[in-house]
Amino acid sequence: MKLIKAKDYEDLSKLAATYFIKKIQYSPAMTIGLATGSTPEGMYRYLVKDYKENHTSYRNITTFNLDEYIGLDGSNNNSYRFFMNNHLFNHIDIEKSNVHIPCGTSKDSLAECATYDQLIKEHGGIDLQLLGIGGNGHIGFNEPGSSFQSRTRIVELTDKTRRDNARFFNNPEEVPTEAITMGMGTILESKEILMLISGEGKREAARMLLSGNVNEDFPASALHKHANAIVIADEAALTDVP
Ligand code: F6R
Repeated sequence: MKLIKAKDYEDLSKLAATYFIKKIQYSPAMTIGLATGSTPEGMYRYLVKDYKENHTSYRNITTFNLDEYIGLDGSNNNSYRFFMNNHLFNHIDIEKSNVHIPCGTSKDSLAECATYDQLIKEHGGIDLQLLGIGGNGHIGFNEPGSSFQSRTRIVELTDKTRRDNARFFNNPEEVPTEAITMGMGTILESKEILMLISGEGKREAARMLLSGNVNEDFPASALHKHANAIVIADEAALTDVP
C-alpha cells in the first residue's frame, strides 16, 4: 500500500481528481468504482471543473457505486443515486445507462446483489475503485467483522455508522437501518484502489490503517493485502500517525 500525503482537503481533492483524470484520458472506456460521503465531494468538484474546462469525456466510461441505502429511491435526496447525480453525473457527459448503483428499492434485494456482482464481472471487473473510510474502518458499508471474501450483499448498519451519517438527514431516526454494499471480496478484486482520508475525525481510522495490522475487525486493513492500493491522506488525518 502506497501512502501519499496531502496538505489539506483541497490538496487531497486535487491530487485524487488529477489521478482519475489522467487514468480516464489514457483509458477512456475504463470501468471505475465510486464512493459517496463528504470525502469525495471535493474530488468530484474538480472532475466537473476539468470537464467544463478541458472536456475530458466520460461517454465511454462505466461506473459502479459502492453502496445504497435500502428503502431510498433515486429521487430521495439522501439516496446515494441522488448524491452522485447531484455531485457528478448531471455535470459530465456520462451515459446514464453506463451508471450502476445498487437499487435500494428493489422488490428482490437478494437478486439485486447477485446481479450487481455479475454485472461487474461482465464488464471485466473494476479498473480503479475510489474509497473513503468510516470512523470504524468500514469501506462501502462493510462494517467491522465483514469477511474479506464477502460479496455484494444486504447489511445492517451499525449504530456508529447511523450516527455518523445522521448529519445528512433531517432527523436521526430517518437514517435507514440497512443497505446494499459491494462486498469486501468484490472491492478487493478491483485492479487498483484509491482511498481518501481527510480531517481530524479520521485520525484514529488513519492510525489504525497505517499500523499495518490486517484484521477483519478493521475492514480497511484489507488494503494491505491488495497489490495496487494507494491512500491519499491529509495532514489533519495523519496527526496521530507515528
Ligand atoms: C459511501 C461509502 C462509505 C464512506 C465512509 C466515509 O459510499 O462507501 O464507506 O466512504 O462512510 O464517509 P465520509 O466521507 O462522509 O466520511
